Amino acid sequence: MNKDIILLRTVEVAAIASYKYIGKKDKNLVDKAAVEAFEVMLKNEKGFILKVINGEGELDNAPMLYVNQMLGDINNPESPIFDVSVDPIEGTNPAAYNFAGSISTIAVSRENTMLQMPEMYMEKLFVKDKYVNTINLADGIVNNVLKMQEQENRKDLRCIILDKPRHYKIIEELNKIGVIVRLIQDGDVLAAIDVVNGEADFVYGIGGAPEGCLMASLAIASGCKMQSRLVLYNEIWPNEEETKTRLNKELAWMSKHNIDTNTILEDFDLVSDYRTRFFAAGLTAGGSLKPISYKKGKFFVNAFMASHGIVRNFNTVYDVNKVNGLKPDIKYLFDKYKR
Ligand code: FBP
Repeated sequence: MNKDIILLRTVEVAAIASYKYIGKKDKNLVDKAAVEAFEVMLKNEKGFILKVINGEGELDNAPMLYVNQMLGDINNPESPIFDVSVDPIEGTNPAAYNFAGSISTIAVSRENTMLQMPEMYMEKLFVKDKYVNTINLADGIVNNVLKMQEQENRKDLRCIILDKPRHYKIIEELNKIGVIVRLIQDGDVLAAIDVVNGEADFVYGIGGAPEGCLMASLAIASGCKMQSRLVLYNEIWPNEEETKTRLNKELAWMSKHNIDTNTILEDFDLVSDYRTRFFAAGLTAGGSLKPISYKKGKFFVNAFMASHGIVRNFNTVYDVNKVNGLKPDIKYLFDKYKR
């Protein structure tokens, strides 16, 4: 079976498993259902091995999809190994409280091409294909927007940005220079999918670094562009109890990788493979991906894939009775996570 179809089906089934917990106010249950779906869907697949580069965390904290975990055809030394960045549910909060913003997602690339990202913040600028040669994050976001506006000869570019206090000032500035700002509570990976699907011109803001790897894969696979820069925890949360410990860890990681907070990371620095592929399926979704729905024994899932500049949006239907008769692994998940 083709690896792409398997990964596409995996994100779709992960979204279906988590559907049981939408709106139940428990982020862990949402996440656990999706994690188990990944494990079940991938464990018996033959012909390839997936190595988790960015996943649910270190082995000590994550029983499954932990960093360096191998999935798939692991007993076959002939099988090629691929790196993956996986977020079984990106946007656990929107899923738990049932508002727009959650998806299930995975990115894959050749072995040793993905950067293992630290759990830290990252400033990201993700732009449409036509601005690939326009942007330079080192010049600051406003200058970049002015350049894109000049290129278009109009001001009303559409931007998506996380609605967080750290962005209030820049949101005001973007509004002042004529940008049409769409605010989201969570989910900057989904926002990047919206850029690829033509619903926005760029995504800007400080979000998670592991999500940055998924967005880098998406940028490369869709012919768009992302630049980023790591941001230290104390810049966002100066007075938290864990600030010092996190800062020390972050600084150690950065010095090991010879990266500082001024280093502009190109998408290719995060995923150095032009053949990278990106997959997602909507859970509560929003924007260009529809939320999952269930009606009369059928799940309707909106999924997405990008590779080699080819972008696909799928309307997938899972007829529970039919699938149950043909795919025992999916039946196990359908039974266990019946809503
Ligand atoms: P989770 O999947 O871990 O819930 O992340 C959701 C998210 O909104 C990301 O899309 C974003 O990059 C990050 O959190 C922003 O972090 P914070 O919530 O700390 O502002």
